[in-house]
Amino acid sequence: MSERTSMTILVTGATGNQGGAAARRLLADGWSVRALTRDPAGRAAHALAAAGAEIVAGDLDDRASLDAAVKGAYGVFSVQQGALGIQPVGFEEEVRRGRNVADAALAGGVEHLVYASVAGAERSAGVRAFESKWEIEKHILAIGIPATILRPASFMENFSDPAFGVQTGQLATAFASNVVEHSTSGTPHWTDSMAHCSPRPECCRTGPWSSFEARRRT
Ligand SMILES: NC(=O)c1ccc[n+]([C@@H]2O[C@H](COP(=O)([O-])OP(=O)(O)OC[C@H]3O[C@@H](n4cnc5c(N)ncnc54)[C@H](OP(=O)(O)O)[C@@H]3O)[C@@H](O)[C@H]2O)c1
Repeated sequence: MSERTSMTILVTGATGNQGGAAARRLLADGWSVRALTRDPAGRAAHALAAAGAEIVAGDLDDRASLDAAVKGAYGVFSVQQGALGIQPVGFEEEVRRGRNVADAALAGGVEHLVYASVAGAERSAGVRAFESKWEIEKHILAIGIPATILRPASFMENFSDPAFGVQTGQLATAFASNVVEHSTSGTPHWTDSMAHCSPRPECCRTGPWSSFEARRRT
């Protein structure tokens, strides 16, 4: 048994996009993975179990279930749903859940917490969907648990989402209002403010795909 195999990483959001990818990567790298879900009988949980993960029932709003889930874990990968996404979650809800995971990890003596935040979390005044992650980051720093904070930018998977995608031949995104999405077409294209933009096509201005391609090449 390798050293990693004997070390358990609790993964929250394991049945979702980020947590699922993290769980699969950890398993592939030889770690023991404990996957948290509210639905241990669900398809995603079954797939994770088949891949070698231990499935544990838990709810990010239920601190006792998190305390039980972290028991004996070496590390925790923490990710929560946010205000953008198919099932949007409110600011307070996301912050509470992120703090709950960090607090449970600390109380459970976890050696290292990895928190999946978002790029620009620390400079996102006014963008509630990002401020929530900054609040969680600050809490993690304040409680003093050894931690790594990841700040991923926009994932490529967004382009397969009907709200953000390119299916119509148009590129739709939801970046901040002061971001020039692409300027090589000759007409600078300013995007809507994410603070006011739910991920629906009608809320997100669109621009020609060719312009995006041109910008990408420069
Ligand atoms: N898209 C991007 O470009 C991008 C970039 C940077 C950051 N992000 C951030 O990534 C984060 C995660 O997104 P995602 O797409 O991975 O999410 P997702 O696929 O919607 O996954 C949601 C996960 O959260 C779990 N969950 C939800 N409520 C729960 C609760 N009360 N208790 C326990 N588990 C709960 C679900 O598990 P069960 O249903 O199985 O319980 C599921 O595994 C978001 O905060 C988003 O802002 C996204």
